This record gives sequence, C-alpha cells and structure tokens, in this order.
Amino acid sequence: MSAEKLVVIGQGYVGLPLAIRAVEAGLDVVGLDVDGDRIKRLASGESFVEDISTDRLGRALSTGRYRPSTEYPDAEGFDICVITVPTPLRDGTPDLSFVEQAGIGIGPYVRPGCTVVLESTTYPGTTEELLRPLLESASGLRSPGDFHLGYSPERIDPGNPTWRLENTAKVVSGVDAESLARVDDFYRRIVERTVPVDSTRVAELTKLIENTFRQVNIALINELTMLSHHLEIDVWQAIEAAETKPFGFMPFRPGPGVGGHCLPIDPCYLSWQVKRRLGRQFRFIELANDVNHEMPEHVTQRVMAGLNRRGRAISGSRLLLLGLAYKRNTGDMRDSPAVDVAQRLQALGAEVRAVEPYAEPHHIPGGVAVVSLTEREVREADAVIVVTDHDVFDYDLVTRHARYVFDSRNRCAGDVVERL
Ligand SMILES: NC(=O)c1ccc[n+]([C@@H]2O[C@H](COP(=O)([O-])OP(=O)(O)OC[C@H]3O[C@@H](n4cnc5c(N)ncnc54)[C@H](O)[C@@H]3O)[C@@H](O)[C@H]2O)c1
Repeated sequence: MSAEKLVVIGQGYVGLPLAIRAVEAGLDVVGLDVDGDRIKRLASGESFVEDISTDRLGRALSTGRYRPSTEYPDAEGFDICVITVPTPLRDGTPDLSFVEQAGIGIGPYVRPGCTVVLESTTYPGTTEELLRPLLESASGLRSPGDFHLGYSPERIDPGNPTWRLENTAKVVSGVDAESLARVDDFYRRIVERTVPVDSTRVAELTKLIENTFRQVNIALINELTMLSHHLEIDVWQAIEAAETKPFGFMPFRPGPGVGGHCLPIDPCYLSWQVKRRLGRQFRFIELANDVNHEMPEHVTQRVMAGLNRRGRAISGSRLLLLGLAYKRNTGDMRDSPAVDVAQRLQALGAEVRAVEPYAEPHHIPGGVAVVSLTEREVREADAVIVVTDHDVFDYDLVTRHARYVFDSRNRCAGDVVERL
C-alpha cells in the first residue's frame, strides 16, 4: 500500500518543520510554496529555518518522499492538506489574502474523504466562514459530509531546542466529530500528545489566548520597567525575587519591544474580531500594543541620556548594536524592534553598526554596517547596545572593552553597564 499523501501549503517557519516531521513519520509529502526561490533552495538541500538542519532536510529529500514544489497540480490525489501560510496585518486589519489564495489553489484537488486543516493563526470563525466556502465552491463538495475540515494552531517556537514540534501538545479540532477524528489521527502520528477541543472556533481562540497572554504580560513588565527607571529601583532584581514564589506568578522580562510574526500581530486579529462582531474595544490588547510600541523610543532616549552623561552627543556618535533579529538565537527580522531602534538612532545622527550573525543580508536596515564582534569594534564604539541577546555573543569581551554598554536584556554586568 502506498504511503498517505500530505500536502503542506507554505514552507516557512511552520510548514517546513511539519513537512519534514511528516516525512519522518512515513508520509509522502509535497511541500507547496509560491516562493520559487525558497522551493529551489529546499530542493537543493538548503534549509533557511534554524530548526531544520541541512542534514535533516537532506535525509528527508533522500527518502524520495519529500517533494518541494511551486505547482498546485502536484497536490492531486492528496489525503491530508495542511495550510501554513502567513496571516499578517494590512493597515492594522487582518490580511487573509494568503489563506484565501491557498484555499482557491487547493480547492480543485479536494476529493471525497480527504482532510484539510488550517494552521495559520487567525480570528475565531476563519475556518468555517472563510476557508470552507472557498473549498466547497472549488470542489463542488461539502464539509461536513464529503470532505473533512479542521483547525489546529501551531505552537512552534523557533530556536527552542527543548520544546519542539513533536513534544509540544497540539490542540486539534474539526467541523464535526468525523473531521475531528481524522485531524486527531493525523497529528497523533506527528506529535506526542494532542488536545481535542469541541469546535474550530475554540481551537482558533486557544492560539489567540496564548499570544495575547504573552503580549499583555510583556507590556505590563515593560511599563513597570520604564516606571522603575524613574523610581530608581532595579526591576530585574525584583522580577528575579518575585520568581521565587512557587505559585501564582510567572516571570516575563522587559525588552526593547516585541517583534516577529506573532506577538505584535495575532492579538490584533482578536481585537479586530471583537470590534467587528460586538462593536467593542478589547482594551487590554490596545493598551499592551501602545506600551510595547513605546519601547524602541524609550531605549533610544535612554541611550541618548547615557551618552550625554558621558559628555557625548548622540549625533556623530558611533554605536554598536548587538543583535537585530526580533528573537534570540534566530535570524528572524520580521517586525523586529531592533530595526526601529537602529532607525531612531540613525535619525538622531548616530553612525549605527551592528553584529547580527543570523539574519540574511537583504533584511538588514539601510545604512547599518554589519560587522563582527571584535575588541576593536567594541573599543571604537561610543556605546554598545545589547538589543537581541544571541548566546553566541562574547559578553565578557563587551564588558571588558566597552566605554558604555546599554543592555536591554540583562546579559552584562559591570561599571560600564546600564540596564534597561
Ligand atoms: N513563525 C512562528 O513562530 C509561528 C508560530 C506559530 C504560528 N505561526 C503562524 O503560522 C502561519 C505561518 O507562519 P510562518 O512563520 O511559517 O510564515 P512564513 O512566512 O515563514 O512562511 C509562509 C510561507 O507561505 C508561503 N505562501 C504564501 N502564500 C502562499 C500560497 N497561496 N500558496 C503557497 N504558499 C504560500 C510563503 O511564500 C512563505 O514561504 C502564520 O499564520 C503565523 O502567524 C507562526
């Protein structure tokens, strides 16, 4: 009997790890993506996602059961299709055009008995109100009834070696009991534990609760950090002390702002839906966005004040930024607050140089010179600013040779160091 055929639409941070894991679980996998360059690189064995090593990709390709493709007709005859395309914001409102395009693309290949699952993060109702009609009209089939349909939110944490796709519990749902059973069967081959819920809306909301919880708590600690600075209290030490409480407290750390594809965006899907359906504001989300957006400016002002205390104007200063990605140990530059910080410093007349070992060169903001972390770079900088604390950075070298370090991540200690 031939292996079951899986199509994963979107071969990015979410879709590629899923596709490779499914090959390892014995499925026959087509990895579909409209980005021809990405597909060419994958087909030649080059991975651009940190969590999938080139070795692992190579092993998947060598089975002959992983086929990267730009062609929807390669989906013909699929048993399961998982959609992992982007869900960004456009002018502050959800942009579901990628999900729509994926639905229109795969619709003609939907056949009786097959299963389609949406994984992209989105507002409650998307699977049934937006995706289902597209699949039904393109295929002439119905769900429930002819084909199975469900939603399963992705919890992937790029760069986290402990919690990976396979050992992180996966929430699963379907438009009816049969759909749920099919979706659950599929993911039980991929991950160690599934968590079935009663409806696609519950599953969609689950993901938004998780990310809104993080966004709001980060904003809370960011605001507290800005206030503690004026109160002259060490917030980092207070968080560490609070963390010793064994119940009822969960630590969040301040930082130069939130970035990436999730935290600045996903909660807005929820507040948009609440506004649309109920005509009400989701106040926590609005407030958290405001506070988090203040952080790059706060960092800029603190650096300016720090230089001023050392008799230096920011205009004409040479600044060395450590890390530009939005997240430690990754090269993901999407919505990175580091870019905002760099541009604000440049606008004030500073020469900005940066050490960023992971990001692709075309994502580096204009006018920022990417350099290596050397004693000379550190010595020649008027300030070294820790923006994204990659583990590969030699923080001892920085504190030994820098004149002034502004550390937004609490990685450095010493007389020359000022923490956020
Ligand atoms: N990156 C994360 O950490 C993370 C975690 C959880 C959930 N998510 C969610 O998962 C979804 C995907 O995120 P990602 O980080 O993998 O995005 P990504 O940009 O890395 O990958 C998405 C891929 O989809 C492709 N694509 C776009 N339209 C397409 C179409 N019509 N047909 C085929 N391919 C198409 C793009 O070319 C891209 O390669 C988003 O909804 C995101 O919010 C992401």
